[in-house]
Amino acid sequence: MASAVRTGAAALVVALAVLALAGGGHAQLHYGFYKGKCNGSDVEAVVQGIVKARFARESPIVAYLLRMQFHECAVNGCDGGLLIDGPGTEKTAPPNLSVKGYDLIAAVKAELERRCPGVVSCSDIQILATRDAVALAGGQAYSVRTGRRDRRQSRASDVKLPAPEYTAAQAVAFYGTMGLSAFDTVLLLGAHTVGATHCSAIKSSRLYGYGGKVGATDPGMDPYYAFVYKNWVCPNTASSDGNLVFLDDQWSALRVDNNYYKNLQRRRGVLSVDQNLYNDGSTRWIVDLLANNAGLFQSLFPQALIKLSEVNVLTGTQGEIRKVCSKFN
Ligand code: HEM
Repeated sequence: MASAVRTGAAALVVALAVLALAGGGHAQLHYGFYKGKCNGSDVEAVVQGIVKARFARESPIVAYLLRMQFHECAVNGCDGGLLIDGPGTEKTAPPNLSVKGYDLIAAVKAELERRCPGVVSCSDIQILATRDAVALAGGQAYSVRTGRRDRRQSRASDVKLPAPEYTAAQAVAFYGTMGLSAFDTVLLLGAHTVGATHCSAIKSSRLYGYGGKVGATDPGMDPYYAFVYKNWVCPNTASSDGNLVFLDDQWSALRVDNNYYKNLQRRRGVLSVDQNLYNDGSTRWIVDLLANNAGLFQSLFPQALIKLSEVNVLTGTQGEIRKVCSKFN
């Protein structure tokens, strides 16, 4: 009898452990997690107010925040690890050296600490601020669950982000490791509907060294665009490495819309990885679908961002709520 009880109890413990694992971190995220927790302040409204003011004077903030969400969530999850200052942290890894927007996160944090110290995590601020910027830039508004906590770890050696020359298959495989699908991959790369790249990301791979051949230009690039990049924006001199190329047409480069996909259909994708989504038959149909249906992109892009925002989050009593986003407590 006693051993039957022990066996039953052991089975229960195992079952609970399995359930906890299956639930992962995000089972504990909630809509409106901060409601009633900030001395009468509406946390999401405070974030939105600060993002709105910044967007009004610096609209590229939408690009900075979207890229930040990706570089944050794709390295050990959406845990604020990217925000930590100091030698050897995620922020110091090469792909992160051109990430911007840290000052906005710090400004939101300072305001929230003033209103309710130690309540709102830096990782939630990143996700809320990106959400607000996307809506301000013409994207569809969406709700996000909150309750993330900040990790007490940030290591440059953990930063293994995809390269701009990735094939579609490599990109899909990368997102697959985060539990995201090929469809999600194509949707998320739609973030390149805003912002810019440095010429350095396309000079050797697309303009002057395609396929490893000196001087070769990617034949998969619209010849007029290749001509413009080579002669004006990214000439073949070291000093052009830091020049900027919009990832979408200039008129649309600060608008969250489906024009990025239309450009891929016209061979005007800027990074190889962008154009590869159209060149590969297994993702081309998704590009076509999103290019031909603006409403579909608007409704699905937020869903992909939400999935990304819930990758490997810390919740409950895990991690900490940092006082300053760039430092562990
Ligand atoms: C295979 C995946 C991806 C690759 C290889 C990639 C690569 C790049 C590269 C090389 C740049 C230019 C950086 C620079 O020169 O400063 C860039 C910019 C950008 N990326 Fe991605 N990216 C990927 C996925 C994503 C995702 C998932 C998002 C967001 C959800 C994103 C958002 C952005 C944004 C908004 C910019 C413009 C940033 C700015 O204007 O400051 N990217 N990306």
